[in-house]
Amino acid sequence: MTDMSRLGIDFAGVHFNNPVIPASGTFGYGREFEEFYPLSELGGISVKGTTGKRRNGNLPPRIAETPSGMRNSVGLQNPGIDKFISTELPYLKTKGTVIIANIAGSDENEYREVAAKLDSTDVDMIEVNISCPNVKAGGAAFGVSCEGAAQITKAVRSVTSKPLMMKLSPNVTNISDIARACEAEGADAVSLINTLLGMRIDIKSRRPVLHNNVGGLSGPAVFPVAVRMVWQVANAVKIPVCGMGGISTWEDAVEMMMAGASVVQVGAAIFNDPTVPVKITSGLAQYCEDNDIMLKNIIGAVKPW
Ligand SMILES: Cc1cc2nc3c(=O)[nH]c(=O)nc-3n(C[C@H](O)[C@H](O)[C@H](O)COP(=O)(O)O)c2cc1C
Repeated sequence: MTDMSRLGIDFAGVHFNNPVIPASGTFGYGREFEEFYPLSELGGISVKGTTGKRRNGNLPPRIAETPSGMRNSVGLQNPGIDKFISTELPYLKTKGTVIIANIAGSDENEYREVAAKLDSTDVDMIEVNISCPNVKAGGAAFGVSCEGAAQITKAVRSVTSKPLMMKLSPNVTNISDIARACEAEGADAVSLINTLLGMRIDIKSRRPVLHNNVGGLSGPAVFPVAVRMVWQVANAVKIPVCGMGGISTWEDAVEMMMAGASVVQVGAAIFNDPTVPVKITSGLAQYCEDNDIMLKNIIGAVKPW
């Protein structure tokens, strides 16, 4: 049996038994995955993006494959914050892993309202999505400027003392500046990257493949972009970084951590293999044993030329 004791990480004031977290929107609220493995084997769970009111999301088709990845335009389908707190959170909190509430809103008030409701729950951390490319109002609109990112960080920070992680968009000119704006307003961590905005067209029907016309690209295709951005952000801020974008193997997770991520999220790869997060964790444990190291010692260990 592999020794998992080398994988523990303290991140933004929260202890994770291991750094591997299913990414928001790719793991629902965890229920469907319990038949594959105990959820306690996960470092944490970032739940589906949750908003003030229930949302049905965008019209289908809203998921499509692409070479080395996928595109989605789900559009934040979720049952709303009250239902999350009354039904999903109590269930998740019995699972023995870190629960991260991923939230979104169409304006500052909605972000504030959702975060304030979570503040009085036992959720472990709040991840604030200011980078969803698939909703018309809000979402990415805040994450693409320093002012917008600062505005939402400040609003959420004012209503909660929970560890606060701002989720950044890669669809920007300078992601380090946005990360610094979040840090300045009191974020405890940043997570990145959300999906890259993409588009494909069916040449027979001349229609875009996704009903939303455009959608977010994720999976191995985006991995080099994500590693680059995590490295840049980790060098720009003092708060810790949660890295994601294209991770599908334990080697990818090691690389992302060497770039500067303290913990990692895994998204699109789960659609290929629901057991991928626990396979990555086992691989990391073996890697630590083989090299006789604690995993936390590789964070930011890249030696740039
Ligand atoms: C189907 C799907 C739904 C997603 N929904 C959300 C969401 O609700 N909130 C969010 O912050 N990110 C969402 N994301 C983005 C992922 O959490 C992650 O940032 C992105 O997919 C990059 O990681 P990956 O390449 O491992 O998939 C979603 C991604 C996918 C593929």
